[in-house]
Amino acid sequence: MAEISPESVPSDLYLTTDEVRAMFLDFFMRKGYAHHPNVGVIPENDPTLLFINSGMAPMKPFFTGEATPPTDQLTNVQDCIRTGDLDDVGDSYHGTSFHMMGSWQFGDRFNKEQAIEYAYELITDGFGLDPDYLLASVLNDEAKEQGIPKDEEAAQAWAKLLPNERIIWLPPSDNLWGPPGTSGPSGPCTEVFFDRGSGFEEGYDNVALRKGRHIEIWNAGVFMTHHVAEDGTVTPLASKSVDGGAGLERIAMILQNAPSIHEIDKWLPAYDVIRTDNQDTRSARIVIDHIRTAEILARSGVIPGNKAGPYVLRTLLRRAMTTLVQTGIEQGRLLEYRDAICEQMDEVPGTVRTHNEVSTIFAKERDAFAKILQRSERLLAPIVARGETTGNELYKLHETHGIPVDILRETCNSNNIQFPEETFAAARSKHAEESSATK
Ligand code: SER
Repeated sequence: MAEISPESVPSDLYLTTDEVRAMFLDFFMRKGYAHHPNVGVIPENDPTLLFINSGMAPMKPFFTGEATPPTDQLTNVQDCIRTGDLDDVGDSYHGTSFHMMGSWQFGDRFNKEQAIEYAYELITDGFGLDPDYLLASVLNDEAKEQGIPKDEEAAQAWAKLLPNERIIWLPPSDNLWGPPGTSGPSGPCTEVFFDRGSGFEEGYDNVALRKGRHIEIWNAGVFMTHHVAEDGTVTPLASKSVDGGAGLERIAMILQNAPSIHEIDKWLPAYDVIRTDNQDTRSARIVIDHIRTAEILARSGVIPGNKAGPYVLRTLLRRAMTTLVQTGIEQGRLLEYRDAICEQMDEVPGTVRTHNEVSTIFAKERDAFAKILQRSERLLAPIVARGETTGNELYKLHETHGIPVDILRETCNSNNIQFPEETFAAARSKHAEESSATK
């Protein structure tokens, strides 16, 4: 493939985050799509999901035929929470909360070629991005045993718009999307990537795509054709639909030439407050990301705890505070940074808590964390004196005393003790299995 290095997008393409969102909705509404509301991040009647993780998640009943959509073409911008990529947060483009700009075609409207053409039209004519820097991925033949053939139709639609070398065939792990949660609709998808240039590379993703450089900006269509049951059984859906989702913050990042999704116009003022104290870019991104997502969860009614959604909230707050402590910042700054983030935040749909109520929740977690830090020193002292440890011993300290894994890791590193990765992971899996067996 020819080396494409835009390095930057012309500054006259700059759009604010709010302008990107408005342009997306306006585009689809002009195409005859009806606006659907952002319903917040707590799923209603869906035990398979902790949080709304995609624009389509609240619409699952429309795909399965359990409910009828208000019209057969919908568009929306949905708040989403995804914690599967937690360890990637800190790079330029991963976040645990984001806005997905979506478009849907239900039932007879299923039209792959049109979904692809619309994505291309908005990216190039609307946002003004140069088509020479676009790549598209399509599903290869590795899902054929599940009855899902390689996606020739999507590839042919792209071939009318992009040269063949920029159409990338990827396996089901990349291009068979869904279900969101443990069961539900699923199908082959085709994703659009923008090439930011070699200066943005953060490592390899696969042969054709490199992390940080080729940014997935739009899942131009999940072509929902199958239903996956809890036991993994795949059956055809009665009615086929198209689910498209574009990342608001990622598109804003590209159009603004911002170094990361945390440094777009929407978040820069809050990011700058955190970054002023925190000289490490990765840490500043983790802190802004985790506090922002924790704020959304707390406003939506989640209380920190030890299981499921509450555990996610506690983990985010503790990881944010651990990151602060590791970079020499007092964890008490949590609330100050949270205020800076709240100043920038849009209204969170489904909010059930006031600003002060969330402050009280965060302050309690901050104080509990301070006690954990004091305890950690005492509990880790024998390990430091001994100069060695086991995965079981460390996992027990994490599980029973709440000592964050990053603190355990940091203590081992700074005392030249090998962190027992394998036995720690084994102890963690054993615990996960035991807890699911007792549910
Ligand atoms: N559901 C798909 C995704 O989340 C497309 O909207 O990528």
